[in-house]
Amino acid sequence: MTEPVSPITDDILLAVEQVLMHAHPQEKAQRSIALYTNWQALSELQRADALAKPSASKVIKLKEPGRPAKPALVDAKHLARRGLGSLAGRIALLHSLAHIEFNAINLALDAVYRFRDVPVDYVSDWLKVASDEGEHFMLLSNHLLHHNSYYGEHNAHTGLWDMALRTDHDILVRMALVPRILEARGLDVAPPMIKKLEAQKDIDSAAILQRIYTDEITHVAIGNRWFRYVCEQRGLDGAAVFRDLLAGPSSAYLRSPYNDEARLQAGFTREEMQVIRDMENEYRETVQGQHS
Ligand SMILES: [Fe+2]
Ligand SMILES: [Fe+2]
Repeated sequence: MTEPVSPITDDILLAVEQVLMHAHPQEKAQRSIALYTNWQALSELQRADALAKPSASKVIKLKEPGRPAKPALVDAKHLARRGLGSLAGRIALLHSLAHIEFNAINLALDAVYRFRDVPVDYVSDWLKVASDEGEHFMLLSNHLLHHNSYYGEHNAHTGLWDMALRTDHDILVRMALVPRILEARGLDVAPPMIKKLEAQKDIDSAAILQRIYTDEITHVAIGNRWFRYVCEQRGLDGAAVFRDLLAGPSSAYLRSPYNDEARLQAGFTREEMQVIRDMENEYRETVQGQHS
C-alpha cells in the first residue's frame, strides 16, 4: 500500500504514472502534492533534463486509472438527489464533489503522462493542477471524516473518465474539452452552491467550496493557455477548432447559464463564449428534433 514512488529526477514520467495508477485515494492525493513539491525544488535545467531522459513509462490507452473498490460507480440517474437543507444532503453533495476532485487528480496527471514532447512549463502547470486537486480532495475527504462519513461511503458517478477516453488521442482535443468544458462547468455551478450552503449556515463547507472555486479559475486558465499554444503551433484558428470539436456529442456537456465573469477571467474570449452558447443551442435543437 505504501510502495515507494520513483524519484522524479530518475524518471519523472514513471513517477507520474505510478501516482496515476495508485488506487488508495488519500495516498494518491498526498503523492500528487508531493510530486509537485519535488518538481518545484528542481532548477529549470534539472526539470528540462528530467524530461529529456528516456522513460520506462509507456503511453497506453487507460480504460481506468487507479481507483479504490469503493465508491461503487453507478449511472448518474441512479444517484439519490437530496436537498442541502439537511446534513445528510450536504454530506451527499460533499461526497460527490470529493469524487469529482479524485477524478480531477487523475485527469491532471494523465495530461502529463500521456502527452510527451511538451514544454517544461506544460508539465509544471499540470503537476500544479494535480497538486491543487489533491488538496481539494483532502479538504473534502477530511471534512467527510469530521462528519462521520468517508469517501467511498456512497455511490458515485460513473462516466467521469469518459471524456478522458474520448480525448486521449490528441493534446489539442484534450486541452479543448477537458479543462475548458468539464472543469469550466465548475465555475458556473460553484457560486450558487456556495450561496445555498451559506444560507444553511454551513460556513465550513462553503469555505471549502470557495477555496476550490478560486483555484479552478486558474485551472481553466491553464487549459486555455495550452489550448492556444497547440493551436498556434499548428497554425489553427482556436475559435473555429473549438466550434468543430463541439459539433456533436461533446456539446451534451454544455449547460447554461454560464458564469461569464469567471470564464473571461480564466481566459475565454467573448467569441468563444458565443461559440459555447451557439453549440449548446444547436445541440438542444438536434436532440429535440430527434424526439419530436
Ligand atoms: Fe479541484
Ligand atoms: Fe481543477
